[in-house]
Amino acid sequence: MNTENKNSRRDFVKTSALITGGMMATPLLSKANFFSGADDTIKVALIGCGGRGTGAATQALSTKQNVKLVAMADAFRDRIDNSFKEMTGDNNIKGRVDVPEERKYVGFDAYKKAMAHADVVILTTPPGFRPIHFEEAVKQGKQIFMEKPVATDPAGIKRVLDAAEIAKQKKLNVVVGLQRHYQNSYRELYAKKELIGDITSAQAWWNNDGVWVNMRKPEQTEMEYQMRNWYYFVWLCGDHIVEQHIHNMDVINWFKGGHPVKAQGMGGRQVRKGKEYGEIFDHHYVEYQYAEQVRKGKEYGEIFDHHYVEYQYADGSILNSQCRHIPGTMSKVDELLTGTKGKISCGAANIKDHSGKVLFQFDKKGENDPYQTEHDELFAAIAKGEYKFNNAEYGAHSTMTAIMGRMATYSGQVLEWDKLMNSGLNIMPKEFAWDAMPPTLPDGDGYYTIAVPGKTKYI
Ligand SMILES: NC(=O)c1ccc[n+]([C@@H]2O[C@H](COP(=O)([O-])OP(=O)(O)OC[C@H]3O[C@@H](n4cnc5c(N)ncnc54)[C@H](O)[C@@H]3O)[C@@H](O)[C@H]2O)c1
Repeated sequence: MNTENKNSRRDFVKTSALITGGMMATPLLSKANFFSGADDTIKVALIGCGGRGTGAATQALSTKQNVKLVAMADAFRDRIDNSFKEMTGDNNIKGRVDVPEERKYVGFDAYKKAMAHADVVILTTPPGFRPIHFEEAVKQGKQIFMEKPVATDPAGIKRVLDAAEIAKQKKLNVVVGLQRHYQNSYRELYAKKELIGDITSAQAWWNNDGVWVNMRKPEQTEMEYQMRNWYYFVWLCGDHIVEQHIHNMDVINWFKGGHPVKAQGMGGRQVRKGKEYGEIFDHHYVEYQYAEQVRKGKEYGEIFDHHYVEYQYADGSILNSQCRHIPGTMSKVDELLTGTKGKISCGAANIKDHSGKVLFQFDKKGENDPYQTEHDELFAAIAKGEYKFNNAEYGAHSTMTAIMGRMATYSGQVLEWDKLMNSGLNIMPKEFAWDAMPPTLPDGDGYYTIAVPGKTKYI
């Protein structure tokens, strides 16, 4: 890095942080060495040290810049330990992991303390916490990488959009982990989308077997259990339509240049149903001794196992979206856009006219690792002192698209974007503590209430 870049980077990061603390007008403080600052080190804090957090931190530490991981925060100590062990066991990055015991923070308020040490924060907890963590990161003036989804309810989306505005004013780079925006094939298809004329309809799929299950342990409080098994609780995860299928709907929003205005759909819980249906379901990821309990459906909390949603955009065009967690059924994760002159198939990475003639085929040899590219581009911008990324708004809109889909399948009603956004619906707990009550609780037999279309009301 040349000196000019080094200085501009340091000033940029420092200025962002000083504005945050309202310190811009205080010359004495502005001289304070806010960052250890004697060199060009970019300091990173990891908030949420699970699978993706460890992956994202590894990618940040694998960029060309002088990046160091300096602080870690998690709700659980064992997650920090596993993540730390994995990163310090990786010869390619272990020299860049500088997290002594006193900079490992545990608990619900750990995020604030870890962020304070860093120039850049990586936000990779379950999505229910994202609005809280994003807001704080913006307040502290940090550059930000945050995973999708960015919330689980409309109130959380509003918080993210408000904080995104402040991030813009402070010129804080925000990258959201909707990695198709950083993937060569998608970027090429997007650049050539005029070949299909006006987009009139689209299809999106995330159909597969499902994900991990964490079993209840006798010593856990209800809050701890739900936090450990977060995928199956709507306040934490948003349901799988939000947690996974967001990627596909985000592509359609991106190519359409906007978000849907309406949605209606259907969905339910066909195989995660309970003891009477349990026998037909054999989960692939569960330890054998727990199989019986899982077969009874208890560990699947309150989410559906399939959703089918018809979205409508402002110009009347339609997105048909489907997502399913049912083993033994068609597996497909893809997007297809149909226009007046042709079709874009994202998985096949090609564009054809309506007669089937190939107008463009992306050469898959040119594909990149989009997870790495997200960090390469973010850290290159930070090092140069550039303000380049403002992904928070589209991240929030794509998250809200998925939330609207969930609310449509849960309620069975036709839902409108503006009404949902103005509803202020907030499904988060009032208090975060291990002995506090989460918003959804099991009945005496350990089963949770599942939404019933036609009866469940969200607004
Ligand atoms: N872009 C992608 O392709 C991709 C892939 C996987 C996951 N993700 C996203 O990354 C996020 C994390 O997923 P994961 O698979 O790593 O889950 P995970 O369970 O492996 O990790 C989440 C971690 O966050 C911690 N945590 C929970 N609440 C916390 C809080 N309030 N404060 C601090 N730590 C907290 C958990 O203890 C856990 O260690 C999710 O939003 C998920 O959707 C994105």
